[in-house]
Amino acid sequence: MGSYFGISTILVLCLLGFSANAEVFNVPGSPGSDITPALLKAFTSACQAPTPSKVVIPKGEFKLGEIAMTGPCKAPVEVTLQGTVKADGGSIAGKDRWVVFEKINGFKLNGGGTFDGEGNAAWRENNCHKTFQCKKLPISVRFDFVDNADIRDITSIDAKNFHINVISGKNMTFDNIKIIAPDHSPNTDGIHLGRCDGVKILNTKIATGDDCISVGDGMKNLLIEKVVCGPGHGISVGSLGNYVWEEDVTGITVKNCTIQGTDNGVRIKTWPSSKCTTTASGIHFEDIILNNVSNPIIIDQEYCPWNQCNKQKPSSIKLVDIRFKNIRGTSGNKDAVKLLCSKGFPCQNVEIGNIDITYSGADGPATFQCSNVVPKLVGTQNPKACTGPVVKAPGSA
Ligand SMILES: *[C@@H]1O[C@H](CO)[C@@H](O)[C@H](O)[C@H]1NC(C)=O
Ligand SMILES: *[C@@H]1O[C@H](CO)[C@@H](O)[C@H](O)[C@H]1NC(C)=O
Ligand SMILES: *[C@@H]1O[C@H](CO)[C@@H](O)[C@H](O)[C@H]1NC(C)=O
Repeated sequence: MGSYFGISTILVLCLLGFSANAEVFNVPGSPGSDITPALLKAFTSACQAPTPSKVVIPKGEFKLGEIAMTGPCKAPVEVTLQGTVKADGGSIAGKDRWVVFEKINGFKLNGGGTFDGEGNAAWRENNCHKTFQCKKLPISVRFDFVDNADIRDITSIDAKNFHINVISGKNMTFDNIKIIAPDHSPNTDGIHLGRCDGVKILNTKIATGDDCISVGDGMKNLLIEKVVCGPGHGISVGSLGNYVWEEDVTGITVKNCTIQGTDNGVRIKTWPSSKCTTTASGIHFEDIILNNVSNPIIIDQEYCPWNQCNKQKPSSIKLVDIRFKNIRGTSGNKDAVKLLCSKGFPCQNVEIGNIDITYSGADGPATFQCSNVVPKLVGTQNPKACTGPVVKAPGSA
């Protein structure tokens, strides 16, 4: 008997070890209920657990108010969202964030579930697309100071503001993320990143009303691969130069992406009369297909929406080692390639290789404009590239 119990105890321990090596905290909730307190409680328990643990939000639709899931945690934490959480309008009114993960080292988010920001009513009362004087609306999901993280199989729909914001993280992978909002939804950037080192965004589909992915200051070593973008405003580095405290950007690779029906394709934008002097270097866009994209390839160092800046003073953001390579498809207007660099700090070491972009409108053919840059040309150039010394673009100062 004694040995029988001994073996069964060992068996049970083995089973626990293999099938549940993470302690599981289920978030209770009846369909339609507000799970904010239950989720906070489950996360707090998981975060305090001395061994890796997991928080599970089951299938079904739930309401969720503003929530910050904050570390540091004693061991890695995994959050599995199987159902749909809906932003509870009343409780997040006037807030600038909805769901926040912060200060966690060793984090996973997965489960196939959805964050529904229910932005429809909020977009109508906002005019952020026309002016800076806009109401603060909550960003749907924030990752602040989250390191060594794997975020996959998650959907964000109808964010009131940005869908996903990532700041000051290290070694994070985003894989198989879906982001959906209508093209008229203002300011709904898909994924905005700043001040992170070592982030990958892979196999992700983004259809939204603003930039699919926007890369802010201080980003280092970002890989964007196999992303499909559109509708939206394309994949953008910047805008840079609007704040005094900004840091350099370096090592941004965008490859094997498809961009369709967007306002811009691949873009770098910096403000004139910049409030800082920084360098953005090692920015490479490669193997990109563009379908019906207005402004497919654009460096815009005169970015100044709604004339909110002094355009006479050139941008002081230095662009160095920039490459656009193997980019093909169709342009929605004749401005296929625009390289408008700063006259104070002309772009350095810009390579344009194998570009094949066609435009079929009556005002064609497609054009290739350059100012304050002498690009190194490699392989096919369609449209015909600007040549020789600095060519001023029509309309540039
Ligand atoms: C990066 O994060 C992953 C978890 O997503 C982890 O497995 C890996 O060890 C981390 N890499 C480094 C160099 O810390
Ligand atoms: C991306 O890579 C796959 C192969 O891995 C290829 O089939 C596909 O055409 C590529 N897409 C682009 C846009 O380059
Ligand atoms: C191209 O995109 C515009 C909107 O940006 C749309 O009106 C037009 O129908 C699209 N054309 C094609 C051929 O998809």
